Order: sequence, then structure tokens, then C-alpha cells
Amino acid sequence: MNSNIRIAFFRQWLNWLWLRPENALMWTFRAEAYKAALETCKPSRVIDISCGDGVFSFITAGGELAEVTDMFQSLDTSKRRLGNFDAFDNYDDSYSLEIIKRPTYNFSIGTDWKSNLLKKAIVLNFYEKVIQHDNNNILQLADNSFDFVFSNSTYWVRNYVQHIKDLARICTPKGHVVLELKTPDILKYSNKTFLPKEFGKKSSSILDAGRLSTWNSLKTLEEYISILKDSGLKIIDITPLYGPIIGEIWDVGLRPFFNPLTKLANSVDPIIRLEVKREFISICEDLLTEYIINHQAQKEHCFEWCVIAEKC
Ligand SMILES: C[S@@+](CC[C@H](N)C(=O)[O-])C[C@H]1O[C@@H](n2cnc3c(N)ncnc32)[C@H](O)[C@@H]1O
Repeated sequence: MNSNIRIAFFRQWLNWLWLRPENALMWTFRAEAYKAALETCKPSRVIDISCGDGVFSFITAGGELAEVTDMFQSLDTSKRRLGNFDAFDNYDDSYSLEIIKRPTYNFSIGTDWKSNLLKKAIVLNFYEKVIQHDNNNILQLADNSFDFVFSNSTYWVRNYVQHIKDLARICTPKGHVVLELKTPDILKYSNKTFLPKEFGKKSSSILDAGRLSTWNSLKTLEEYISILKDSGLKIIDITPLYGPIIGEIWDVGLRPFFNPLTKLANSVDPIIRLEVKREFISICEDLLTEYIINHQAQKEHCFEWCVIAEKC
């Protein structure tokens, strides 16, 4: 663990995700493991499956965005985030990114099923190509095409086994499939286990905001490993990412409030917006930096893992 790298990531994530600081916390440890995997594998052709707006991979690979840039732009804030409604699944011409540093290399392909997220990804100019694709189907890409296949979203996919076999198929022999995987242990930290009794179901569903319903294929680590092995992949590294404290913080966080906060942030003078953003981020840094430095994931209590597998 290199605390300078963690702090640098944390600052980048806070800048990008400032109204969701709980995500900045999680993404710091996700990015740390993902960066280590990229450095270990030294790939030349990378595919980012379910890349979303692409910023997670862009910054992990060494990119930096300016402080006037964040993800709370071009959002559909007309409804609350519940069920399938996703405020980020929106794109208009106001979306712009000020890039202050580019990664030293590009990724070959980014895929996602949401065209609006891919439009945002294109603005990064980081993927040579983006492809709109539903992972419940087979990718229209040749066998053995990429030496690094990454996804942090496989557990969203209903046809899980077929999806993993497909990722293995497009990976070159001796290439790597790198997955960040949630296990059902995350449910231990869900307010659903205690909140409905005293606060009622409505409270609990506001905090959940449709999250649990998107994870169609959560599996235990052992189940994931078995599926990877059956797909012709050899596990070469398993890194625990985080457990209870992050689970509890992330379960509540600012999720219910980011829509109205976004509206507020985007309706004030840009100079005031930036001033408030800086103050907000500075409080988050003071609150969380010591934890960021000291954090050590405990395998026995962990609910998210980074798994590196090699194609046999
Ligand atoms: C948690 S987000 C992660 C996005 C991105 N990798 C990141 O880290 O910011 C999950 C992503 O998976 C995508 N997704 C979910 N199910 C999918 C499916 N069946 N096919 C393709 N993309 C899917 C979503 O649209 C979303 O962009």
C-alpha cells in the first residue's frame, strides 16, 4: 500500500464525485487494486466492459480532471433515483470535461448498454471505440482479441455464466480477465435488516434507491472462482477491497440527497459553485483522509474483491 497513491486517488474521486463522498471512499480502494492489476499485467489491448462514463478507468489509468469538472452535470434530476431510474443516464450538450492530464495510453474498447453513458465516455477521448452492448448477449468481437479484459459490473448481468465465458473467449491466451466482484456479504450492511422495523419500508427503499435490484447475480467468492475456473481461467491473485465500515457508510451516504444538491449546485453562479465545492471537499478530506491511509481490508469481513485471472 502506497499512501500517496491512495490520497491522490481519493482527491481525484472527491473532485469527480463530491456530492457522493461515500463513493469517493470506495473508488479509492477499487482504483488502487485496478491500477496494481494494470501495472502487473502491462497490457497492450484493453477492453473495459460496462465502462459507464469511462471516468473510473480514465483516472485509474493516470488521467486527471480539473476541479471545475465533476459528474454532476448533464443529469436528469426530474425524478428521484428509484428502481430502474438512473439520473446519470442522460446526455446533453452541456456535458464537458476539462482534462488536465491524460493517461499515457488509451484503452481499445469500452462497452455499456446505456448509450448516454457511452456518449459521456466518448468525450474523454480515451477509448479507441465504444460499443453499445447488453452483456446478457454474446459480444460481437473475435476470440482472443484483448490481453486485458476488465469489468467491475459482472454481477449486474443475469446470464452470469455465459457472460464470464464470453469475457474469457475474447481474452488472448495468457491474457488477463480482471474482475471487481461484490459478494452477498454486502447485504449484512444493508439497512433492510433493521430499518423497516422502526422507520418503515419507505425509508428503507429511499436509502436503497434501487441498488439491490440491479445486482442480479451476486455470488460468494467461492462461486465466482468456480465459474472463472470452469471458463478456462486460472486465478492468479485475489485482493480484498473493503468490509464493514465502508459497507455501513455506503449504505446510507448522501444518495437520497444528491438530486436536490445537484439542482442547487447547478443553479448558482459557477464561482460560488466552485467555492462551495472546495469547502465541501475540504471537510470530506479532513473527515476521511486518516481512514484512507490506515485502511486494511480484512479478508474475513470483506464484501468486495479484485480477482486477476489468466486465460489458460
Ligand atoms: C456500477 S456502474 C459501473 C460503471 C463503470 N465501470 C464505473 O466504474 O464507473 C455499472 C455499469 O454497468 C452497466 N450495465 C449494467 N448491466 C449491464 C448489462 N447487462 N449490459 C451492459 N452494461 C450493463 C451500467 O449501465 C453501468 O454503467
